[in-house]
Amino acid sequence: MTLDRWTEVDQYFTQKLLPADGVLESALETSMDAGLPAISVSPTQGRFLQLLAQIAGARSILEIGTLGGYSTIWLARGLSAGGRIITLEVDSRHAEVAAINIARAGLQDIVEIRVGNALEILPQLAAARSGPFDLIFIDADKQNIPTYFEWSLRLSRPGSVIVVDNVVRDGAVIDSESSDASVQGVRRFIDSLGAESRASGTVIQTVGVKGYDGFAILLVGTAIQST
Ligand code: SAH
Ligand code: DHB
Ligand code: MG
Repeated sequence: MTLDRWTEVDQYFTQKLLPADGVLESALETSMDAGLPAISVSPTQGRFLQLLAQIAGARSILEIGTLGGYSTIWLARGLSAGGRIITLEVDSRHAEVAAINIARAGLQDIVEIRVGNALEILPQLAAARSGPFDLIFIDADKQNIPTYFEWSLRLSRPGSVIVVDNVVRDGAVIDSESSDASVQGVRRFIDSLGAESRASGTVIQTVGVKGYDGFAILLVGTAIQST
């Protein structure tokens, strides 16, 4: 099974299941024209994030890692009425592109882009008692996932959903000797999750237009029941 096949199958489901959407397409186009890296979630993954928000009945969402706002738009569209999303982005150029894309989506009153290092903004959010968030999407630099996860637990409540992107990395996650800081960040997160009593979850591997990767999906306030 090859990347070509994964891509074709992903495109098949995208064409069949996801209506053509000018807002999302121009968000990607504007991001590409501005030279942003093409690392947004895929359409089927974006739809999956929207579904999670809908299933969770989310009224407040926190996203760590905005890029051009593509996943932000999907998540915002999954909010229930009156809901809001805060998204954190360290790169002001990325944030500017995201602001354009989010305004074009008509979501400027629902989405708050906070420009700065998430490592600094997360403690500020906690100090300001901004939580608890119903859903948190962790998708920034991977070496800091363990820290983002720790703050996410503090900014959530029992029943909150936490999703962490890119935890498989072409399978590199199982390489304990990896010199890649991203791989080691994911591995420390997985180690901490295995021992975590405040949340539990699983990892689903994915293939598609973005290659081979995966999501961790967690529910806060539940340790795995061993009966
Ligand atoms: N969620 C986006 C993709 C995010 S890519 C989507 O799927 O559409 C990761 C983003 O995290 C990049 O824009 C990068 O600039 C940002 N980032 C990296 N380190 C960060 C940090 N310490 N704080 C906030 N944002 C960070
Ligand atoms: C990268 C980051 C992502 O969030 C992603 O989904 C894919 C790739 C990266 O930094 O390479
Ligand atoms: Mg990602």
